[in-house]
Amino acid sequence: MASNQVRTRPIGKSGIQASVVGLGTWAIGGWMWGGTDERQSIAAIQASIDEGISLIDTAPAYGMGLSETIVGRAIKGRRDKVVLATKCGLVWHTTNGNYFFEQDGKPVHRYLGADSIAYELEQSLRRLGTDHIDHYITHWQDATTPIAESMEALIRLKEQGKIRSIGASNVSPGDLKAYVESGAIDAIQEEYSMVARDIEGTLLPVAMENDVSVLSYSSLALGLLSGKVGPERVFAEDDQRHGNPRFSQDNRRKVAQLANAVLPLAEAHKVSMAQLVIAWTVLQPGITFSLCGARDPAQARENAAAARLTLSDEEVAHIGEAVARNLVDLDR
Ligand SMILES: NC(=O)c1ccc[n+]([C@@H]2O[C@H](COP(=O)([O-])OP(=O)(O)OC[C@H]3O[C@@H](n4cnc5c(N)ncnc54)[C@H](OP(=O)(O)O)[C@@H]3O)[C@@H](O)[C@H]2O)c1
Repeated sequence: MASNQVRTRPIGKSGIQASVVGLGTWAIGGWMWGGTDERQSIAAIQASIDEGISLIDTAPAYGMGLSETIVGRAIKGRRDKVVLATKCGLVWHTTNGNYFFEQDGKPVHRYLGADSIAYELEQSLRRLGTDHIDHYITHWQDATTPIAESMEALIRLKEQGKIRSIGASNVSPGDLKAYVESGAIDAIQEEYSMVARDIEGTLLPVAMENDVSVLSYSSLALGLLSGKVGPERVFAEDDQRHGNPRFSQDNRRKVAQLANAVLPLAEAHKVSMAQLVIAWTVLQPGITFSLCGARDPAQARENAAAARLTLSDEEVAHIGEAVARNLVDLDR
């Protein structure tokens, strides 16, 4: 493992620098992840910060405020070390917009109306115990509100100093173009990993052309690519991985073959499979940041260290070939 500093990159044109590896806190909200342990979660967040990770991503929808509340507790006294990202647009205070899913018996709608965004931001600031968000993201797109209208509201919040940069998530190429036209879009946040590469041919070229940063989410494919999901691992029924074809025995075998293929490289760098996967991810053209979830300090430290790992072009190509050979015809 190279002992140099955690690498940072700018978020779009905002002038904000953030660590190339970000801590994702979806699982810390518990919902869809079989519950959460607050003590371990706080320790994971603080371990990430201690390891030099500045980028922390959360959302109101992760446990209906629970993830944000836990992040707020964890960063108390460390706010200046954190580039804090949270989201808006999945709401349960109104039934405007389109119904999306139910959480804790409450209907959650996709809604990005201007008043709702302003309301949501205040709720997030309170839960996170801060007076500003460094990167504020529309979580899922709302077909009932024009992007230009949501963008106007976001730009107003930026002018007020309540948010410092603007992102959008789960966008189509058309949405991205509309965000670019409305000005001030700094980044998009999209699923991307060795097993989910659809955006390479769709969103990434548009993002690169327009200087829009890309935060990859589920970079470890919900943990499948951590190298630690053996054939015996059983997921709880309220964990989204339970019965998920992505975690089929066949897929686990293919990932194990990939791990074997890259083992000599991992050993040469004294790193784990997860660290190689994360380092490979942030070196893909168009990918700026890699968000990785962590439920405890050990996972947090392991993932954070990948932000210090540098790979040569040959090594990236070697990993890419191993991916192309082993991760074929995956169950999805
Ligand atoms: N914008 C969006 O719509 C959206 C959607 C999804 C995610 N995100 C963001 O992206 C972040 C990252 O994605 P993700 O959390 O979905 O998936 P991920 O990072 O691919 O996987 C996270 C899970 O993998 C396991 N894991 C992580 N590091 C590990 C390690 N070093 N060793 C062993 N296991 C490890 C942990 O679960 P176990 O310990 O339980 O196995 C962890 O909760 C999220 O937390 C969230 O902030 C955004």
